[in-house]
Amino acid sequence: MAQNFLPERLPNLFLVLLVLATAIYSAKVTDLKETNLSLFFQDISAPGAVNATVIPVAGVAGKAQTFTQFGTVFVTNDFITKSADSNSLEVGRAQGMYVTVGLDGLNSHVMISIVFTNKEYSGSTLEIQAKATDLKETILSLFFLDISAPGAANATVIPVAGVAGKAQTFTQFGTVFVTDDFFTKSADSNSPEVGLAQGMYVTAGLDGLNSHVMISIVFTNKEYSGSTLEIQGVSKQFEVAREVSVVAGTGKFRFARGYATFETYSYHVPTHHAVIRCNVTVQHY
Ligand SMILES: *[C@@H]1O[C@H](CO)[C@@H](O)[C@H](O)[C@H]1NC(C)=O
Ligand SMILES: *[C@@H]1O[C@H](CO)[C@@H](O)[C@H](O)[C@H]1NC(C)=O
Ligand SMILES: *[C@@H]1O[C@H](CO)[C@@H](O)[C@H](O)[C@H]1NC(C)=O
Ligand SMILES: *[C@@H]1O[C@H](CO)[C@@H](O)[C@H](O)[C@H]1NC(C)=O
Repeated sequence: MAQNFLPERLPNLFLVLLVLATAIYSAKVTDLKETNLSLFFQDISAPGAVNATVIPVAGVAGKAQTFTQFGTVFVTNDFITKSADSNSLEVGRAQGMYVTVGLDGLNSHVMISIVFTNKEYSGSTLEIQAKATDLKETILSLFFLDISAPGAANATVIPVAGVAGKAQTFTQFGTVFVTDDFFTKSADSNSPEVGLAQGMYVTAGLDGLNSHVMISIVFTNKEYSGSTLEIQGVSKQFEVAREVSVVAGTGKFRFARGYATFETYSYHVPTHHAVIRCNVTVQHY
């Protein structure tokens, strides 16, 4: 038996991959559903095995067709189960291609269809495409301290323009507010500041219900210092949870996209001090 016949990916002939797929369907704000699935791909990469579920089909002439060789194209048809046990019920198939696209062999570009065959999702598919190592998801809960007491020297949100002859209030169409709230990681406003929420709110609903929000989340703490997130969207001011989009970012959050919710966590009427909880979910590089 020739030694050189040994497949190079031994001993992992049989890999179990865990894919946590979070599918977010973009739609009308109130329509969004989120589905979390944990799927186990049963992946057999033994070179030449008749039951291999991932095989190289093309590559650079004269080079071995391996996962780390730039230009190698693999076709895959893994079966998917809901538990790590490969004898558990198949719930679908992962069919598609992987292409090694990093010249250094580190990155693979993934194009696969998740084709559900079980009863619950039968006929449904999900398309997955990305450079395999790229997207990260960050989830944060931030607490904004918002002081809206009219005329207070320490107010963090103040009206700066509006319709002539009308009071500059949150419910008056056309009122423009500028804000600079500091935020912390806990509801206690005496806890260390982690950043500032700087930007504008404009009451953009003729009926005074909706506000248009344009704010930058500017991190000042060590972990994210220098990084920012841009938030823009319509805030339905009188709803318990107001959802807006995260449209961009810088620093650790380059190319960020996602969403944020705002909830009034506490409100002290005499001083107009509000603590607003902002939950941010972003995907970024
Ligand atoms: C999905 O998972 C995330 C992260 O674990 C969690 O925050 C979120 O609430 C989950 N969503 C659902 C609908 O279970
Ligand atoms: C694939 O074939 C190998 C060699 O015949 C065998 O040892 C292995 O159990 C097979 N795997 C599956 C999942 O059928
Ligand atoms: C803002 O000023 C008011 C009035 O002087 C004071 O009661 C309140 O504690 C101040 N808030 C903060 C967070 O400094
Ligand atoms: C914000 O996050 C907290 C902590 O995970 C959670 O309890 C709360 O329900 C979230 N708020 C919204 C509007 O999703």
